[in-house]
Amino acid sequence: MKILQNVSLLPYNTFGLDIKAEHFAEISSVDDLRAGLRAGIQPIFLLGGGSNVLFTQDVEGLVLKNNLRGIQVIREFKNKVWVEVGGGEVWHEFVLWAVANNYGGVENLSLIPGTVGAAPIQNIGAYGVELKDVFVRLNALNLTTGKLKTFNHSVCRFGYRDSIFKREERGKWCITSVVFSLTKAPHRLNTTYGDVSKTLESNGIISPSIADISRAVVQIRSSKLPDPAKIGNCGSFFKNPETDRSVLERILATHPQAPHYPLPEGRVKIPAGWLIEQCGWKGKRVGNTGCYERQALVVVNYGGATGEEVKNLAEAIIESVERGFGVRLEAEVNIWPPL
Ligand code: EPU
Repeated sequence: MKILQNVSLLPYNTFGLDIKAEHFAEISSVDDLRAGLRAGIQPIFLLGGGSNVLFTQDVEGLVLKNNLRGIQVIREFKNKVWVEVGGGEVWHEFVLWAVANNYGGVENLSLIPGTVGAAPIQNIGAYGVELKDVFVRLNALNLTTGKLKTFNHSVCRFGYRDSIFKREERGKWCITSVVFSLTKAPHRLNTTYGDVSKTLESNGIISPSIADISRAVVQIRSSKLPDPAKIGNCGSFFKNPETDRSVLERILATHPQAPHYPLPEGRVKIPAGWLIEQCGWKGKRVGNTGCYERQALVVVNYGGATGEEVKNLAEAIIESVERGFGVRLEAEVNIWPPL
């Protein structure tokens, strides 16, 4: 492992921002990681696929890029397997591995950018499935003590795009591996999400396999979400807000067609994409940044934008939705340094 100085993070963040790390190293083993800690450079910033972070300035200290690899079945049961996956594995490659081996559970999470180690931090989710549904435990190394610790499901306190790693444990750990529980055939399929059932139908598939679902999800995502290799972005920039029923009632009074989904305890989720679109942002370009034309939840860098510009656009969107609907959107993407 070699620590480099003044390294551009352009290839390491999907927003495509040319910001610099004061020190930078790629880690391929736990030993590498401990060697990185022993260098005594502070603060340490752990980077996965760079697909959920917006850097607004150069990064002081040491950036460690997690390259811990490996996919291994560690326990075999009658109907399922437990698979341990290195934190630096690319998420979608793990999904493809699972589908190729006919292990079910992550096919709806196809094509989500980022690494396996980053996936639990925000409890990634799509098309009716969340990481927490297949999660068993994770191993992580404490960036201060260098000690390894296992976090089981309940300790992680997963929520909607949320876990303790976004809260009290933020920035303190390197997730070295994650253990998933995947089903053997026959699988419990999740095709209820409108877009998925429609795509399967238009593909002429009546009784889908997990490979069919994975292909359908790849199709949907590619049609709605910009490819970060072409247009810089971090997927959904905002979370879908959860509000009291009274807020929805007020919105329905003027917009009877407002989409919404019920939550427990009389609360509702309103799609942020819809709120943003209603405020006229969808497809709008501001300098080198913009609100994506096919999914208003996505903020994009058309090339050459700074992190500050992206953040300014996001703030303008937040203010405008708050003025228009009295709902304050929250960023889903991690803004660095934190606001
Ligand atoms: N909508 C609009 N205009 C838009 C976008 C959405 O009106 O421009 C409304 C429509 O009513 C639509 C509804 O929002 O029916 C839901 O849209 P979509 O199915 O595209 O999902 P989303 O709620 O916008 C969430 C996740 C995505 C995930 C999809 C599918 C969040 C923050 N985002 O988006 O996750 O792929 O559901 O499950 O929960 C990500 O986190 O990066 C991400 C892409």
